[in-house]
Amino acid sequence: MINIMDIIKNISRTIEKIPNAILGSLCLVGIYKSIAFLKGLAQIYYESWQSCIDFKKRYGSDSWVLVTGGANGIGKSWVESFARRGFNIIILDIDEKAHEVKEIIEKEYKVKAHVIICDLTDQEAISQLIYQVKGFDISILVCNAGVHHHGDVSKQPIESIMKLINVNIVSTTLMIKTLLPNLLYRSQKSAIIVMSSRSGFASFPYSSIYAATKAYLRILCMSFYQEIKEKIDILCVQPLIVSTPMTRHIKVGGIICSSEDCVESAITSLGRRLETCGTRAHKLVDWYISGKNLDEKAEFSANMIRSQFKLKKP
Ligand SMILES: NC(=O)c1ccc[n+]([C@@H]2O[C@H](COP(=O)([O-])OP(=O)(O)OC[C@H]3O[C@@H](n4cnc5c(N)ncnc54)[C@H](OP(=O)(O)O)[C@@H]3O)[C@@H](O)[C@H]2O)c1
Repeated sequence: MINIMDIIKNISRTIEKIPNAILGSLCLVGIYKSIAFLKGLAQIYYESWQSCIDFKKRYGSDSWVLVTGGANGIGKSWVESFARRGFNIIILDIDEKAHEVKEIIEKEYKVKAHVIICDLTDQEAISQLIYQVKGFDISILVCNAGVHHHGDVSKQPIESIMKLINVNIVSTTLMIKTLLPNLLYRSQKSAIIVMSSRSGFASFPYSSIYAATKAYLRILCMSFYQEIKEKIDILCVQPLIVSTPMTRHIKVGGIICSSEDCVESAITSLGRRLETCGTRAHKLVDWYISGKNLDEKAEFSANMIRSQFKLKKP
């Protein structure tokens, strides 16, 4: 029978044989890792208690926020969030429902609102936007519109792949380029918020092209920030799963958050940080997987997606 005392004695003898220098180094590594672990956790809780900075002071009162894809889901929540804070809103969407959202916010928050119906896959239409927004002091651009197609790459029609790339990558890039002069040459600071996704950071099996478009947006934000940070704040938002029309209104709970929670948590990072996952639940998942290697992250994401969307392992 195994005697527990013998095992402890054996371990002690083995440790005694290890040179002190190696033991000391191992202890230091352990302490360093523990501090990094606790620091990450403390940061998440600290951020979730922070309130927003004074946006009107920083970006200008009576200025306008332009939200792409503002008629539904997360975009609609950005619209409501800035309207509640007293900003005037331009809702740009392909969906005529944008007019309903305009009426609601004008009535509820007593702000000015304007609708632009535009298909963001139409590059000519984007280049014409500069004329449509003439006279509006746009201080914040929210590049939110995006599409998602799920499934096996080999089975996806070329048109749907091109739409994914055009809406998520091309339109966001062109929106930023088109409105950049307006944002740069204001007397106050401006801001650009980009809806990326956690999928663009680790992996998102069964949505590979979507995840790659979101990785593009993340790198665009990280690099571009270094060029314009004196004049423009950038916030790259990378949530996990949010209940919206895109995710067929998946039930909120656990790691699935509402679009309001996603936006209200993310907005506290505006003007303070370059990126955020938004809600505390999403930050905790992010923190949990940050120590894993790429294979483990991919496996974790795959299992999460399978269980949330009830997919079978191929
Ligand atoms: N939901 C999530 O779990 C999640 C997680 C991470 C990141 N995100 C990102 O967050 C953003 C918003 O997602 P969501 O879930 O709120 O999506 P959503 O519910 O589908 O809303 C997107 C809005 O964009 C509009 N839109 C789509 N294509 C357009 C086009 N070509 N031109 C103009 N407008 C267009 C949509 O109009 P129609 O409805 O008429 O198509 C809709 O109003 C996306 O970039 C998404 O990738 C979402």
